[in-house]
Amino acid sequence: MICCGIESTAHTISVAIVSDKGGKCNILANEKHSVVTEEGGLIPRELRQHHQKYAVPVLKSALKKAKVKLKDIDLIAFSIGPGIGASLGVGAVVARTLALANGKPLLGVNHCVGHVEIGKALTDCKDPIVVYVSGANTQIIGYEKGRYRVYGETLDIGLGNLLDVFGRKLGLGFPAGPVLDKMYFEGKKYVELPYTVKGMDLAFSGLQTAAVQKIGKEKKEDLAYSLLHNAFAMVAEVAERALAHTEKKELLLTGGVAASKGMREMLGKMCEDRGARLFVPPFEACLDNGLLPAWLGIVEFKAGNRMNVEDSAVDQRQRTDSVDVNWV
Ligand code: FE2
Repeated sequence: MICCGIESTAHTISVAIVSDKGGKCNILANEKHSVVTEEGGLIPRELRQHHQKYAVPVLKSALKKAKVKLKDIDLIAFSIGPGIGASLGVGAVVARTLALANGKPLLGVNHCVGHVEIGKALTDCKDPIVVYVSGANTQIIGYEKGRYRVYGETLDIGLGNLLDVFGRKLGLGFPAGPVLDKMYFEGKKYVELPYTVKGMDLAFSGLQTAAVQKIGKEKKEDLAYSLLHNAFAMVAEVAERALAHTEKKELLLTGGVAASKGMREMLGKMCEDRGARLFVPPFEACLDNGLLPAWLGIVEFKAGNRMNVEDSAVDQRQRTDSVDVNWV
C-alpha cells in the first residue's frame, strides 16, 4: 500500500509518500519546509501561518517526486500529537481534506511512536531501547506488554532546547548544535556543572542556568564540553539502566540530537561495554518529517487500526505510552 504522511507537530511542515512493497519501508518522497528563527523561540501564530503557506507546495512537490497521483494513495496519515496546537491543526486539516475529497481512509498517529517505528524500519533493529532526543522531547522508551513504555524522560526542557538556548547565549546563531558538538571535542577542562538524574528522569534547566551564568568566566570550549558531557552522560545513564532492566540488546538513537557525534560516541561506548548495539537511522529520518506518520500509518493500518474523521482531533499532550501497540 501507499501512504501519504503529513507532519506538522512543531517547526516543520512535511509530506512523505511511502510504500510497504516487499514488506519494507520504501521512501518515494519526503518533502518539507521549516521555520527558522534567528532569535527567540517558536511563536504558535507564526508557525500556523508558515504551515498554511507551505502545506500545499510541499504536498505537490512530494506527489511530483514520488510520481504518484492522489488517486494512487491508499491512506492519509498525520501526526495527531504531541506538539504545538497551532502547528498540529494545519497538518490535521490538510489530512482530513485530502481524505474526504479523495475518499481515502484517515489515520492520526503519535509523533513519538512515529520516531520509534521509522527508526526501527530504517535500521533493522527489532526490539530496542529508544533514546529520543530533540528540541522539545527527551525520552528513553522501550516496548513492554502492548505499549511503548517511557522508562525515563525530561522533567523540564528537551535536550535540544538546552543546546539551542546555550548556543544562542554564546552567540553561535542557529542551529548551534553542530558548532557546540565541535567545541565538545575541543574543550580541555571540565567545569563543574549540575548533573540531575532523578530516579529514571532527567532535568536540564538547572544545568542550562548554571552554564549560562559561567559564560565569560570560563573558556567557551571548556564550558561547551562540560555542558554537553553532563547532558549526554545523564541520558546515557538512564539508557543504560533501561537496557539493564529490560535485558534488551539494542539501542536506537533518534531525534535531532542524534546528529551529535559526542552523543553517538558516548552511547556507543556504553553499548560496547555491555554487549549491546547502537543503531542510528539516516539523519534526515531522525528529524521531524512526514516519514514518521507515513510509515506508522501503514504499520497501524495493517494492524487493523481505523479512525473516523470526527475522532481525529489533535492532542497536544498525547503520551507515547497512551498508544495501544497492537502491531509488535
Ligand atoms: Fe520529533
